[in-house]
Amino acid sequence: MIRARITGTGSCLPEKIRTNFDIEKMVDTTNDWIIARTGIEERRIAADGEFTSDLATRAAERALEMAGVSAAEIDMIVLGTITGDYPWPATACIVQENLGADKAYAYDISAACSGFVYALSCASDFIQAGRGKKVLVIGAETLSRIVDWTDRNTCVLFGDGAGAVVLEAAEDSESGVLSSHMHSDGSYLDLLYQPGFGTRVTPSVENITDHIPYLKMQGNEVFKVAVRSLTNVSLEALEANGLSASDVSLFIPHQANKRILEATAKRIKLNDDQVYINVHKYGNTSGATIPVAMDEANRAGLLKSGDVILLSAFGGGFTWGSTLIRW
Ligand code: COA
Repeated sequence: MIRARITGTGSCLPEKIRTNFDIEKMVDTTNDWIIARTGIEERRIAADGEFTSDLATRAAERALEMAGVSAAEIDMIVLGTITGDYPWPATACIVQENLGADKAYAYDISAACSGFVYALSCASDFIQAGRGKKVLVIGAETLSRIVDWTDRNTCVLFGDGAGAVVLEAAEDSESGVLSSHMHSDGSYLDLLYQPGFGTRVTPSVENITDHIPYLKMQGNEVFKVAVRSLTNVSLEALEANGLSASDVSLFIPHQANKRILEATAKRIKLNDDQVYINVHKYGNTSGATIPVAMDEANRAGLLKSGDVILLSAFGGGFTWGSTLIRW
């Protein structure tokens, strides 16, 4: 049996840090409120002239370097993002060109904060089907460009960044992606979405003046569904593999809000030391949170051979999913 193994991880965070104190000067909020309600202390903001494809390319280069794989060997590039450089073509194609991954075919996946686990699921299926041997899976965002910096309900939450993994085919391997469980429910669109610019809301001076195109969210409602969905999809992964919470070496959830992570971990019955949290440093970087956290954990030596790693994400759509990995 062929399994998809992660052989390299990489990440890239913009240098510029925007603290809660910086945001206090922009909207009616406080450092204390943001920390108490979200756990976020600071986030990274892409520089002028720095785009999602740049962050994605740097993260991918670091993952390739760790894996000892050259860009020319890559069969496919899948990029989870909702903040591509352009509405089209796919930002993955720009990354392909940047890397010189001439053999790869490249496409984006739009699943908001679940973008990386959706992309990982596609890439793992591709490898298991024997269609290719080496795949780059990336989550990359510059959310600072679609956030309304006059809306205190949303602007405090988000940041920019990118993470990537190299997946390789391994014959008869115990380690690799064990399972993927993905879900969607389009009935919740109004709770979390970006109205413009697509083909429903097209550019006009009026809608820009009214701040219509920017990210919209009803945070309170999203919170409840997020905890429920993250819990259920995490338990679904464990059940499908005949495992229980005590078998999980590290739970790497989508980093949206510390309270969501703690509530979810409690419901799954995980201890604090089984949960990886870095939302305080980067805020919610949507599709990038999980691969950035994986790379940090990996480089810190927290992911050891044989470990069971549980990834779970939830985001706009709504979309949600879990991936169980034996490292
Ligand atoms: N600073 C100060 N006050 C703020 C604020 C801010 N940045 N943002 C909102 N408030 C106010 C609200 O206006 C409201 O005031 P009111 O009671 O006078 O109306 C009050 O704080 C409570 O707002 P509420 O939305 O109920 O707070 P909350 O405890 O639900 O926290 C979020 C808000 C956004 C932090 C929280 O709902 C959340 O994290 N939701 C999920 C977001 C998310 O993860 N989205 C992406 C999913 S992948």
